[in-house]
Amino acid sequence: MTALLEVRSLTKSFGGLRAVDGVSFQVEEGKILSIIGPNGAGKTTLFNLITGALTPDSGDVLFEGRSINGLKPNQTACLGIGRTFQIVRPFPHLSTLDNVTLAALAKTKTRREAQHRAEEILEVTRLTPFADKDARNLTLARRKRLEIARAMALSPRIILLDEVMAGLTPAEVDETIALIKSLTTRGISAVAGVEHVMQAVRKISDRIVVLNFGQWLAEGPPAEVMRHPEVIRAYLGSHYAESQETP
Ligand SMILES: Nc1ncnc2c1ncn2[C@@H]1O[C@H](COP(=O)(O)OP(=O)(O)OP(=O)(O)O)[C@@H](O)[C@H]1O
Ligand SMILES: [Mg+2]
Repeated sequence: MTALLEVRSLTKSFGGLRAVDGVSFQVEEGKILSIIGPNGAGKTTLFNLITGALTPDSGDVLFEGRSINGLKPNQTACLGIGRTFQIVRPFPHLSTLDNVTLAALAKTKTRREAQHRAEEILEVTRLTPFADKDARNLTLARRKRLEIARAMALSPRIILLDEVMAGLTPAEVDETIALIKSLTTRGISAVAGVEHVMQAVRKISDRIVVLNFGQWLAEGPPAEVMRHPEVIRAYLGSHYAESQETP
């Protein structure tokens, strides 16, 4: 089976710094892959390379088996690659509903149709009670869900989620986990870039890729990756390993 998204030996340097260094992985249809790694590991750069916001120095990105190297962000979005931004960027002075309607207009013929689609997405993302509120007045958790809603409005096949759980309370994290899982039942795959919300990663991921200083460190199902000695040493820390051993 052809992977929905495949990244092959992707490399990007900024000056002398290799931010992404020969990274490869695949995402299957309907699956959730988490990319974990400490601050500066290269997660956001990787997303920028996949969407075409940055051009790789070498390597390739394939979507549905075809190279999308060299395409611009609007073109990869049209193909079905959605994303959210680590620093959320809705239109602050537009309402929640208008923010999603505007995104939906790219995929619909009339404003009426776009608004109808936006209303459906607000239901799924549990933002309906805040439909008329300006985006700038939403809490961080709701602004992050609005980012997911705007990505969903473009009818993507896959969404790259950049730190959508950072800074949220445990209850808000749970709500976001439920939302991310519901994406797959709608036929949308996801790649979640996550720095530190380990319990959430364990719950949502079919597979995990671990990055360290831009390099691929490990990959596999959550339980396997989190037992990996290199991962514990470089990232989770011995403190984490000990906490997992106590019943
Ligand atoms: N435009 C840029 N110019 C120069 N250096 C950059 C640029 N973008 C990223 N970097 C550097 O590349 C490395 C990877 O950064 P990146 O933002 O991809 O990491 P990250 O895993 O998303 O980190 P975080 O957890 O902080 O979001 C870092 O050392 C960062 O300082
Ligand atoms: Mg980042």
